[in-house]
Amino acid sequence: MKFRSSSEINKDCIEYYKEQKNKWRNNFHFEAPFGLINDPNGLSYYNGEYYIFFQWNPYGCEHKYKHWGYVTTKNFKKFSIPKVAISPTDWYDKDGCYSGSAIVRDGNLELLYTGNVKDENNNRESYQCRAVLSKGGKIEKLGPIIKEIPKGYTAHFRDPYVWEKNGKYYSIFGIQNKELKGRVLLYSSEDFDTWKLEGEIKTNYDNFGYMWECPSLFELDGKDIFVVSPQGLKAEEFKYQNIYQSGYMIGKLDYESLEFKHGEFKELDMGFDFYAPQVFKDNMGRTILIGWMGLPETENVHPSKECGWIHSLTMPRELSLKDNRIYQNPIEEIKNLREENVFNLSDIQTDYIEYNDLLSNSYELKLDVDKNTASDIEIRFMASDEEYAVFKYNFNEEICIIDRSNMLFGDKSSRKFKLKGKNNLKIDMFVDESAVEIYLQDGMEVASIRLYPKDLSYGISVKSNDGKLNINSMNIWKMGEVEYCE
Ligand code: FRU
Repeated sequence: MKFRSSSEINKDCIEYYKEQKNKWRNNFHFEAPFGLINDPNGLSYYNGEYYIFFQWNPYGCEHKYKHWGYVTTKNFKKFSIPKVAISPTDWYDKDGCYSGSAIVRDGNLELLYTGNVKDENNNRESYQCRAVLSKGGKIEKLGPIIKEIPKGYTAHFRDPYVWEKNGKYYSIFGIQNKELKGRVLLYSSEDFDTWKLEGEIKTNYDNFGYMWECPSLFELDGKDIFVVSPQGLKAEEFKYQNIYQSGYMIGKLDYESLEFKHGEFKELDMGFDFYAPQVFKDNMGRTILIGWMGLPETENVHPSKECGWIHSLTMPRELSLKDNRIYQNPIEEIKNLREENVFNLSDIQTDYIEYNDLLSNSYELKLDVDKNTASDIEIRFMASDEEYAVFKYNFNEEICIIDRSNMLFGDKSSRKFKLKGKNNLKIDMFVDESAVEIYLQDGMEVASIRLYPKDLSYGISVKSNDGKLNINSMNIWKMGEVEYCE
């Protein structure tokens, strides 16, 4: 396959943003103008801007020809038009420039990624590669820095996540051992060129899926947080309900013994569409996560394919630690996308409210309710006479249900998960044209959902089935669009 040049692809993107938006195109969730995107890569703050790289097939809606694309932004409102950063054009990455990360070093942005190579019999080879973005904006590939698969492991070896500690560089990689179990390896380097295998990070999870993808490791409030996307966990009633999972463990890594003492693995997102998140620190010291709002092997349930594009990224979420768990909330800048406050009320007792005056699905709904005499609350959104999506919470059982079976297009499944609440529910919902993120109890849980409504399904209702709720406050803001400019 002969790839088009970065500038040709960028030109098509420029043209695209001049045109009328196609159906389901989101207003404030990032997606590429065409093709398939998946994992966020190389998230960083560099040279006064945020860099968001991502896995991108600019040629179609299949998992092929993985490039790194990128956009930059100073404020999460104005973004640059997507460009290609690196293309799979060399022997060491010919079947895909797979996921990786970035770090600022000597005034440049160093990128580490995995070169995916398949031979004629489909046997896999993995090369860990380096590229560098210099201040002038030029990106240069420097080739492999790790060519060998370490002994005892298969060629499922990928997704470097790099950081610096005590003057040394470290990178972890997701890998599969010969017993077909997911593992993570730690490497170190003094000069960024020669990398030494330190060994396997020892966790309590010996048998926890057949492959661990996209690890991140970072400090938050003096703890080490390990984020990972394991494949092959069995679904349970209230967890692990997607094809693959993404979650975290909180603990402390001993850099000498490589022992990681940690608590339980906890999923980061309880929705249908979330995988391979990456975490980075910005210049203000914030710890920010962006996830892929999609999952592998789900292409058939995303009808935006018909418009030539598939998948989005989540909004950037700031992480904090509370009561030994991660809380996630949209970064402060997302508030700048709020436009008119079209609905607000406070301190009323009711069992039904509806709002049908919106002219698009681009709003934030923030609600704080006490259970009062009701035992449940049901919020319908993207609703019309023909379809709706629903979020339900049962206060007594502390169970949430999200159900998309009454939508006309896309996947029609439902799911449930536990949420601490008992007497009160706080919900902050961001509804975009085809992407919804629900933040619960001040960010204790989040659920990401792709939905593909028919035109005019903009209705919202809040009700309880058996008593009166006490609405402490309810607000709806219209949300504006982010801009893509040259
Ligand atoms: C996760 C993943 C990574 C890999 C990339 C390829 O979604 O499978 O492990 O690097 O996608 O696109």
